[in-house]
Amino acid sequence: RTAVKVANRTFWLSMLAGIGSFYYVTKKDRTPGPQLPHDPEKKTIVVLGSGWGATSFLNTLDTTDYNVVVISPRNYFLFTPLLPSVAVGTLSPRSILQPTRYVTRHKTRTVEVIEAEAQSVDPVNKTVSFVDNSDIQGTVSSTTIPYDYLVYAVGAETQTFGIPGVTEHACFMKELNDAEKMQRRFLDCLESAAFPGQSEDEIERLLHMVVVGGGPTGVELSGELHDFLEEDLKSWYPELAGKIKITLVEALPSVLPMFSKRLIDYTMSTFKESKIDILTQTMVKEVKERSVLLAMPDKSIVDMPCGMVVWAAGNRGRKVTQDLMAQLAGAQTNKRGITIDEYMEMKGSNGSIFAIGDCTSSAHAPTAQVAQQQGSYLARAFAQRVKRDRLVDQVADLERSAAMSLHEDDRKKVLAEAEAAKRQLAKFKIRPFSYSHQGTLAYIGSDKAIADLPFLNGSFASGGLLTYYFWRSAYISTLFSLRNRTLVATDWLRTKIFGRDVSRE
Ligand code: FAD
Ligand code: NAI
Repeated sequence: RTAVKVANRTFWLSMLAGIGSFYYVTKKDRTPGPQLPHDPEKKTIVVLGSGWGATSFLNTLDTTDYNVVVISPRNYFLFTPLLPSVAVGTLSPRSILQPTRYVTRHKTRTVEVIEAEAQSVDPVNKTVSFVDNSDIQGTVSSTTIPYDYLVYAVGAETQTFGIPGVTEHACFMKELNDAEKMQRRFLDCLESAAFPGQSEDEIERLLHMVVVGGGPTGVELSGELHDFLEEDLKSWYPELAGKIKITLVEALPSVLPMFSKRLIDYTMSTFKESKIDILTQTMVKEVKERSVLLAMPDKSIVDMPCGMVVWAAGNRGRKVTQDLMAQLAGAQTNKRGITIDEYMEMKGSNGSIFAIGDCTSSAHAPTAQVAQQQGSYLARAFAQRVKRDRLVDQVADLERSAAMSLHEDDRKKVLAEAEAAKRQLAKFKIRPFSYSHQGTLAYIGSDKAIADLPFLNGSFASGGLLTYYFWRSAYISTLFSLRNRTLVATDWLRTKIFGRDVSRE
């Protein structure tokens, strides 16, 4: 009896402690304290972007020694791995966003956040010009500011290869509004198919969803669309659900080339069971209003009717990046992105521009994992850079005072100190970036995920339900804040209990 009492008391005490610490952490998060103002004596870092690279940089950076300005057309961080879940309503859009100010307001020194799009960078005069592209603008909507260091993390945009009709007729899966637009279009196709008197051919067309690109974005989205169909649409559109068709089109011989053969086969067989058609070695040549033009493996051209096309065919550099690279054309010759060295320094920029993430072309794939590691590495390197700059200043000061010394003894003493500082400076090394691959994960629908994980100097490939729980826990722990973790976990529970919403906003 006493044991039960003790257990009972311990349970309630730990519950109280849990609620108390949750309240304390969230309260602390919501009430940031005062910050130091910008200091004209300190160097200014301008950060372009608020995505994986930039946010990871800001999270890690010690702002004591720098003035920091962030410029990005969106004033939030978007957790891209869960974007396909937003497109089908498993998650609410706001659950995977983190306002940038939630990070910057917790820094020691004020970080200026400007919602604007960088239009051009002048690497010679070290300035950035940017414009406010939002719907509401004040009397000033464009300006130019100087920087000492530029952290360039503008990501990439979706590659269209100039294929006709893509921009006009396809949906994308890159930004939050892409997911919202896709969700509206998908539900619109369903409602139009349910319109009285619709012909069978037209119903078939409207309910045919084509995903272009068998990379992880296309595969994950196809899996999510399938879940929406199986778990919700069958209940709310029983007359139509059986006619919904999902086709994944991939130009290469297989989907997911970055995964091991076993996991590719597993994905293919899961998709087969889920009745998702995969067309490999098939190239989309044109996207029309009501169909896609396909170049088939046998070189024939097929006009395939469909209601919606989602374009997930990879990345290309943004115009602002191409313009910047063109200004340093001698050092920037790689068309795939900015060439950087192992310290993230943009080649040809004389130590003033550092580029991270998808805008660069490096030995690593353009993934969140790489951008995140590069961002936190660069922030640590900036802390080292301050120490190095201090040593440089110290040497210069000592040499100056030695030159001005009137007494020989004083001069020798100061010169000896300068020599010691120089030796320290010569030994001072900023460590180069080293990438640590944590594995590759992808959700493939039907509560299954695949994972290629580095394991004991080899790799471990796994797929299925357990991997799905691993995928969920890995992503929830990767979310940057307790607030987002709570929102995503709550959304998963909400979807499990109530299903996904099928109303079209
Ligand atoms: P981004 O995160 O794209 O950030 C770029 C930032 O720059 C944005 O804030 C943007 O608004 C801003 N910007 C754009 N133009 C300008 C401008 N002119 N001036 C100033 N700022 C500008 N990777 C993984 O490792 N695992 C995954 O599971 C995964 N899932 C993904 C799912 C989807 C649907 C997508 C699209 C990508 C996924 N990725 C994943 C890839 C990952 O999202 C990218 O590699 C990552 O976002 C790159 O980070 P970044 O900082 O370079 O760019
Ligand atoms: P991707 O570049 O990986 O794949 C795009 C695919 O589209 C390619 O396989 C290409 O052959 C195909 N394609 C291009 N043009 C085509 C056409 N006209 N017709 C048919 N197929 C065509 O692009 P994705 O999936 O958007 O990924 C971008 C980056 O983000 C990658 O580095 C990827 O690793 C990363 N990412 C990682 C995820 C994960 O780890 N779970 C999830 C999503 C993205």
